[in-house]
Order: sequence, then C-alpha cells, then structure tokens
Amino acid sequence: MALAVMCSGGDAPGMNAAVKKFVDYAFDKGEEPYLVFDGLEGLIDGKIKKAEHKDVAGILHRGGSIIRSSRSKRFFEYTYRQQAYENLKKYNINGLVVLGGDGSFRAMDRFSEDFPINFVGIPTTIDNDIYGTEYCLGVDTALNTIRDALDKIYDTASTFNRAFVVEVMGRECGYLAAISAISSGAEICLIPEVDFVLPTIEEKLLREIENGRRYVLAIVAEGTKMTGEVAKWLENRIGMDTRVTILGHIQRGGVPTTFDRMMGFEFTVHAIDHLCRSKEMNKVVVWNKGEFGLLDIDTVVSNKNQVNPHHLAMLNVLD
Ligand code: F6P
Repeated sequence: MALAVMCSGGDAPGMNAAVKKFVDYAFDKGEEPYLVFDGLEGLIDGKIKKAEHKDVAGILHRGGSIIRSSRSKRFFEYTYRQQAYENLKKYNINGLVVLGGDGSFRAMDRFSEDFPINFVGIPTTIDNDIYGTEYCLGVDTALNTIRDALDKIYDTASTFNRAFVVEVMGRECGYLAAISAISSGAEICLIPEVDFVLPTIEEKLLREIENGRRYVLAIVAEGTKMTGEVAKWLENRIGMDTRVTILGHIQRGGVPTTFDRMMGFEFTVHAIDHLCRSKEMNKVVVWNKGEFGLLDIDTVVSNKNQVNPHHLAMLNVLD
C-alpha cells in the first residue's frame, strides 16, 4: 500500500515522533510511506514526497513538525478538495494518516463525503478537546510547559505580595487551565465550561488576605475571554498589585516529553495497523483507560467533548 502522513492545524509536541514512527513502521511492514508537506494547503498544491529513512532521522526530540502544518481556508471549497483528491490519486495513495485537531477532522469528514478517501485521524492538539478520547498528542508536554511557567510565576508572586493572572490556551476547552490550576494549587481558575461569578469568592479571598495570604494565582482559560476582567477585579476589589501573563504560543512548542513520544509512536502504529488490516474507512484512533481503540469520524465530529467531572471536583479554587 502507499500510505501518506500529514499534519494539520495547530502543531503539538510529539508530531515528529509520530511522523518518524510512520515512516519507520510503514517500511517495516513493507508499505510505501509518503510525506505531505504543509498540511491541507500542501495536499491541495501537491506537496507530496516519497519518504526515506533519512527524512525522519534525528527529529524525535524536536517540537513542531518537520513536515509543517497549516490552517486551510481553500480546503472548504469543493474545487480545492477535488484538487487534493487528484493529488492523492496521482501517487496511488490509498491510506492517509492525519495528525490534527477538531477542525482538521471536520475537514477530513467533509473530504470523505465528497471522495472515496481512506484516512485515520490521530488526535493531536494541546487543547485536549476532541470527543471520544481521553488524550490528544501534545497535551502532556503543554501541561509541563505551563507548570514550569507557573512555578516561576509563583516565585515572583510570593516574593512581591502580588496577584498574577495567567492566561492559558485551550480554545473553547478548559482542560489545560483546570489541570494546571489543580497541579499548581492556584486560588482561582476560570474555564468556559463553568459559570463563574467573581463576587461570590470576593468575601472569602478578602478574609484569607486578612489572615495573612500574600499572593494570589489565577489561571484563566483563553476561551472565557475574562483575563482583563479578572485582573481589574483583583486590583480594584481585592486591592492587590496585579500582573497579567499570557503564556501564548510557548505552550505549543518545546521538547516533547517521554509520554508524548511514546504516545506518538503508539497512536501511529494503531493507525497504520488499521489501514493495513481493515476495510472500514475513515476512523480516529482514540485512547481511553489506557487502551487504544477506533471511532468513526462522524461520531468524533458530531459530539462535543466534556471536561471530566472528576477534574472539576478536584479544582481547589475558592468558591
Ligand atoms: O488549537 C491549538 C491552539 O493553540 C489553541 O489553543 C489556540 O486557541 C489556537 O490554537 C491558536 O491558533 P493560532 O496558532 O492559529 O493562532
């Protein structure tokens, strides 16, 4: 079989480990691996290359993706999807592994409605917001990047008697914020999934400050759009000297953790095994309770991921 791999949407640490495994494992199985460069944009423009071992040598430890990625507006137009399909046909590619998030899977779902393609999605996004899987590739590294930043912010916050509002990524999902708040012991955590009324914690926070609390750490998920409001509230209502840190794209980069390298390998092996063994088309590899499985693309894109209630219960915030 001719199999191709592509990265799409926001990059995530561990993509390179997956791409390396894709090439090495495809050769081991006697299949022909191809690389699609620049994501969906590259698929439209035919940026496809037959892979060699040397293409993926020495990339395991690097963040980002050596085959790059893109967010494609053109792919929403039928003509460009047709062009992408013709490119796959040109190389006789009969199996495509797509490392991407929700948006990329929606695009692939659309693609599969128009053309007889056969792809397997590997959930890859730091947001951990894909339905049907407990884990998306890149999340562990992103959480560790955030933890490292929060530990450092804690040092300066506690030295200066200050409040810090730290905004973390996650799009509409509060997973990164919730886990980071739990593991850093933040006093406040705002996520899009939970209604949050600042005055309800005001009294409790003021009492704590009266009893000797000298710093406050507030983690705000970008999806709440409340970073500025929380900072103003801490200054004006709580009376604390406040600073804001927006962690931004540093959360997407960096050396992948051991866990993300291993997950990159495992997701990819499952994707290739499925493409080689089964006639069932257009699936997503998922990971739940330590086991890998497969879900239909339709199921994945037509359901909304929910934050684990157990994590919500563990949020040690003032409320
Ligand atoms: O989906 C990953 C993510 O990093 C989100 O957390 C964030 O909202 C978005 O991508 C940023 O996208 P871009 O890199 O296009 O600015």
